[in-house]
Amino acid sequence: MRKHIVAGNWKMNKNFEEADELVSNIMDKLEETDLKDTLLIVCPPFPYLELCTDYSNDSYFMVGAQNVSDKESGAYTGEVSASMLKSIELDYCIVGHSERRAYYGETDALVAAKVNQLLANEIKPIVCCGEVLEEREANKQFDVVKKQITDGLFHLTAEQFSEVVIAYEPVWAIGTGKTATPDQAQEMHAFIRSLIAEKYGKEVAEETSILYGGSCKPGNAKELFANPDVDGGLIGGASLKADDFVAIATSF
Ligand code: PGA
Repeated sequence: MRKHIVAGNWKMNKNFEEADELVSNIMDKLEETDLKDTLLIVCPPFPYLELCTDYSNDSYFMVGAQNVSDKESGAYTGEVSASMLKSIELDYCIVGHSERRAYYGETDALVAAKVNQLLANEIKPIVCCGEVLEEREANKQFDVVKKQITDGLFHLTAEQFSEVVIAYEPVWAIGTGKTATPDQAQEMHAFIRSLIAEKYGKEVAEETSILYGGSCKPGNAKELFANPDVDGGLIGGASLKADDFVAIATSF
C-alpha cells in the first residue's frame, strides 16, 4: 500500500532560534501522538536541515530540502547539490514548487533535471504541480497538470518513478486561505493517478503517493484526506505551528 505522507514546507521563514523552538515543539507533540502509519517530513530552509536531522535521527520524522541544483557540482555560486544533501543523509526534496516556477522561472525541463540529480543521489523528489486561477477558470487545469507531469517526470523509468512523491497544489489555494474542495482535490488526484497508470501501469500508479497542498489546515485536513486518491498533504503556513502540523498528520 502507498504511504500516507504529511510534509511541512517552512518556505523562507524562521531564524535559527525559532527553527530550534519549532522542531523541538514538534518532537514534544510527537511523543504524545500516535501517527499510526503516516510518514511525517519536515522541510526547513537549508541552514536548518542538520538541526532537524539531529533532532529526529530518522525516528520521529524524515527531513527534506525545499530545492536542489540541477547541476552536479562546480562553479555554480549559491547552489546546493543533490550530493551535498545526500552527504547529510536527507531523504526527500521538494522540486518545482509553484513559487519557484513563478518567481525563479523554473521550467518543466529544469524540474526534470533536478529530479534526475536527486534520484542519482537516492533522494526522493516531492514534485509539485498545479494550475493558476486563470487556468482553472478556463477549465485548463487538466492540460496544465498533464504537461507538468509529462515533461517533468515521464522521462523516468518505472523503477525511478516509484521513488517519486507528487504534490498537487492548485496555485490559487496556496497561502490564500482558499482550499480546493475535497471533490476538486479528488478529481485531480484521480486524473494524475490515471496518467501514471497509462504511462507506467496500474501497479506503479497505485503505489504512488499523491499529496494535496494549498491552505490545508487542521480544520479541513480530515475531509481532504478522506478521499481515496488523496494520500496526504504538503503543508505551508500550518506547518509553522507544531500543534497544527501534528494535528494535520493525525487527520487520516
Ligand atoms: P500553504 O502552502 O499551506 O501555506 O497554502 C502550501 C505550499 O505552498 O506547499
